Amino acid sequence: PKIEGRAAELVAMAMRNAERLESLVNDLLDVEKLGGGRLSLAVDDVEVSELVDGTVEANHGFAKRFEVALEIEGETPSVAIPCDAGRVLQVLDNLVSNAIKYSPKGDRVVVRAAETEGGVRFEVEDRGDGIPEALRERIFGRFIQADSSDRREKGGTGLGLYIANSLVELHGGDIGFGDRPGGGTIFWFELPKKVPYRKA
Ligand SMILES: Nc1ncnc2c1ncn2[C@@H]1O[C@H](COP(=O)(O)OP(=O)(O)O)[C@@H](O)[C@H]1O
Ligand SMILES: [Mg+2]
Repeated sequence: PKIEGRAAELVAMAMRNAERLESLVNDLLDVEKLGGGRLSLAVDDVEVSELVDGTVEANHGFAKRFEVALEIEGETPSVAIPCDAGRVLQVLDNLVSNAIKYSPKGDRVVVRAAETEGGVRFEVEDRGDGIPEALRERIFGRFIQADSSDRREKGGTGLGLYIANSLVELHGGDIGFGDRPGGGTIFWFELPKKVPYRKA
């Protein structure tokens, strides 16, 4: 039988809670593995467009929920990089979901990729309030959140950027952020086209 009305709301709520728990458990497992140097990458040649398109598809529903437009800007370079696709998507997904969470309703989040001299640079841009001054030095640390109260509305654990930073490092890349001219933040990371990986 079809689940409707209040019952449907409760099922949806239960599902969201289950998803939250799942991502919390996964984050904690990753942190544990990273801390013990036991996270190894499954490296393969991956098309950059697969990564960019993949994160936009994966975050489509999330963007809709926050009433944010999620767009790819410019032409994604047709080049492959040696990386663990699942792990790079995890980095992108966290940057994109952060950008969405911290954007005002009706706003726009942009993903783009460009070739650099030795690699590929990914950028995720939002027009939100920017990174609070007090967090800027330690934003890639563990459990760092502007709002870490139990009742924070955006959810999350403050582990996402710590994990992203570690995964980019494992790939031999760099990660950082800067202010977007006119307001907001641009998170970026760059992965090398060659010299693929330092195995965990
Ligand atoms: N694009 C952004 N704009 C503003 N603040 C951000 C952005 N991305 C991250 N932050 C801040 O950095 C904190 C850490 O991010 P993250 O490690 O992904 O944790 P989480 O998403 O679980 O809160 C966030 O809680 C938020 O305070
Ligand atoms: Mg996050």
